[in-house]
Amino acid sequence: MPAIIKPLYMAREFVSACVSGGDLVIDATAGNGHDTLFLASLVGDKGKVLSFDVQKEAIETTRQLLEGENLIHRVDLILDSHENMSDYVHGFVSAVMFNLGYLPGGEHDTITRPETTVNALKAGLLMLRPGGIITVVIYTGHEGGKEERTALFSFCANLNQKQFTVLHYSVINQIHDPPSLLVIEKIY
Ligand SMILES: C[S@@+](CC[C@H](N)C(=O)[O-])C[C@H]1O[C@@H](n2cnc3c(N)ncnc32)[C@H](O)[C@@H]1O
Repeated sequence: MPAIIKPLYMAREFVSACVSGGDLVIDATAGNGHDTLFLASLVGDKGKVLSFDVQKEAIETTRQLLEGENLIHRVDLILDSHENMSDYVHGFVSAVMFNLGYLPGGEHDTITRPETTVNALKAGLLMLRPGGIITVVIYTGHEGGKEERTALFSFCANLNQKQFTVLHYSVINQIHDPPSLLVIEKIY
């Protein structure tokens, strides 16, 4: 087992460290439901995961996965863009997870986009409790991916350091475009 953890799993390490039973959390990109399942296992029966996707197929796959694990009662599945998350969230959240790009196994033309992703990030930051975190797994190998990363970096680099700490976790010696991870922590 390599000691360096991949960005996708590193995101879960950060989230595990700040989510407790009973918390409200968000999966901003449900996809095939793996992060939603991970979050549902963390929040317990008293917590809730709000899970967003713009594709019916993703919402349905996520529903089936969660039903199969008997955890669907911990999740609200929402067929809407993550930039509208504040319409659905009442209260503070301890974590928001983004896994950008396209639905694995689905159409590659439905992808996350710079403007909506940054708007969703802004909405997520407003509902984050002190000590809470947002994780964003970024992919740059597909068309538009590099532009999305640029937009995210320019937004995040200007966040007030007294309010937020922003980390970028990335491999720097791979010739192809490996995914990387942004983590934003709201300071206590
Ligand atoms: C890489 S997949 C997510 C994988 C997922 N986290 C998992 O564990 O399986 C990216 C997802 O983002 C969704 N997506 C694209 N634009 C979106 C938006 N504006 N709001 C919410 N979801 C969006 C896509 O439909 C796709 O299912």
